[in-house]
Amino acid sequence: MSWPLPGPGGGNAGAFNYRLWCSDPIGFLSDIAGVYGDVVGFHLGDSPCILINGAPEVRELLTRHEMHLRKPEFVRDSNRAHWGDGLTTLEADAWQARRKVLRPCFSSATVSAVSTCVVQCTTDMLNSWDAGSVVDLQYELRMLVARIALRTVLDADIDGLGEAGGRSGLVSRQQAYGVDYCSAAGGDPAAPLWQIRPRAPSRMDEVVRIIDERMLGGDSRPDILSMLLHQRRHADWKAGRDEIVGEIMQMLYAGHLTIPAGLMSLWKELATCSAVSQLEAEADCYSARGYRDPVSQVGSHCLSMLKESLRLHPPAPVLYREVDIAFELGGYDIEPGAMVLVCPQLLHRDSRYFANPDRFMPERFLAGDDNSGNPLMSQDGHRDRTVVSAAPYLPFGMGPRTCIASHLAMQQMTQITLMVSGRFSLQPAPGCRTRFLLRPRC
Ligand code: HEM
Repeated sequence: MSWPLPGPGGGNAGAFNYRLWCSDPIGFLSDIAGVYGDVVGFHLGDSPCILINGAPEVRELLTRHEMHLRKPEFVRDSNRAHWGDGLTTLEADAWQARRKVLRPCFSSATVSAVSTCVVQCTTDMLNSWDAGSVVDLQYELRMLVARIALRTVLDADIDGLGEAGGRSGLVSRQQAYGVDYCSAAGGDPAAPLWQIRPRAPSRMDEVVRIIDERMLGGDSRPDILSMLLHQRRHADWKAGRDEIVGEIMQMLYAGHLTIPAGLMSLWKELATCSAVSQLEAEADCYSARGYRDPVSQVGSHCLSMLKESLRLHPPAPVLYREVDIAFELGGYDIEPGAMVLVCPQLLHRDSRYFANPDRFMPERFLAGDDNSGNPLMSQDGHRDRTVVSAAPYLPFGMGPRTCIASHLAMQQMTQITLMVSGRFSLQPAPGCRTRFLLRPRC
């Protein structure tokens, strides 16, 4: 079979679709999938696009056909920001080689080493909060995540939040959280993430100074920069200075919006969730254990709540690819040049795969297995009837280009959730999307 695929056609369809897409992209994708099925061809303006919206087709696309695809230029451009390529923007052999270099940076040993830093930084944040006051939770979480990233990637800290002693440097708040850290429609920092793309600020003088100094000095620290420099010296990776800078900038910003977005959505769900007492009991155990062993994977309420919240509100609601080499999918010829869209937000709320798809039901994920596949088993070990076996679950993507840091991100979010829930009960402040009232736990 060949183009055209089923989809909205007609003379002015491209312009019409584009207007619908701009006002409500997820609604638009949902509508065309409802009318035309799981593989839909359409135009956005002049650009040919294909929506893939069936679980088997998505799995096949992102696992078997990734080598026939590339990231579209607008995605690569925003991830590179002012700094150059890194794992998220490389393609083909260069991507494969870099993924191999970076894999050890996200091993379970590294992830568990990061845990101490998360505890320290979250404790500082909690100590600065007063019970009964209202905080801008989104800002607080972005600063927290920026601080954790600076410490784990560069052994640096944020000026005014951490001490200089022993660190490789202190980065100003303006640079860690600069005005151009994201491009949002209308500049609204609380806009949904489909409107925002992370960008490292254009001025990152201190970060660049640290990288330059450490590349010359050859010191070794417990951070990702040292791991990269070690690979450069001892493995077959001939990276230049600009490649290191590009990679470090992407690492600093990769979780900058996604982790806070994931946590904000969870707290909004928890505000009306009756199971919050189970979370608080788990938080008390975590505190009693001295903040060790944050995730006892089996039966963790916190983890299942996070997974369920990421199902309902995936921080990356749409994934974009461009077809580089023709291939066949679901009986259709997929032609080079078309943009392919996969929408986790739609797939996660599809009643073919999840019962009561719009309801927050953490129990679906109790005793789930991992972050990237389908956590399907219920607590008693039987298959959970609220999730079917072929259910698509891709908050961290799927296939070879799945998020390299998914375990690190899940652990970080679990620790922060448990530590905050141990001290405060958060209530959304009326009329504001980002502010929460801090109620003391009684
Ligand atoms: C809740 C937090 C996070 C979410 C929801 C998330 C989500 C994702 C998704 C959906 C992708 C795949 C994109 C695609 O297929 O087009 C991805 C890729 C990636 N993520 Fe994350 N991410 C998170 C945190 C992080 C963090 C903290 C880091 C780094 C420290 C990170 C680094 C990366 C990198 C380097 C890639 C590209 C992988 C590759 O192309 O091989 N992510 N992430």
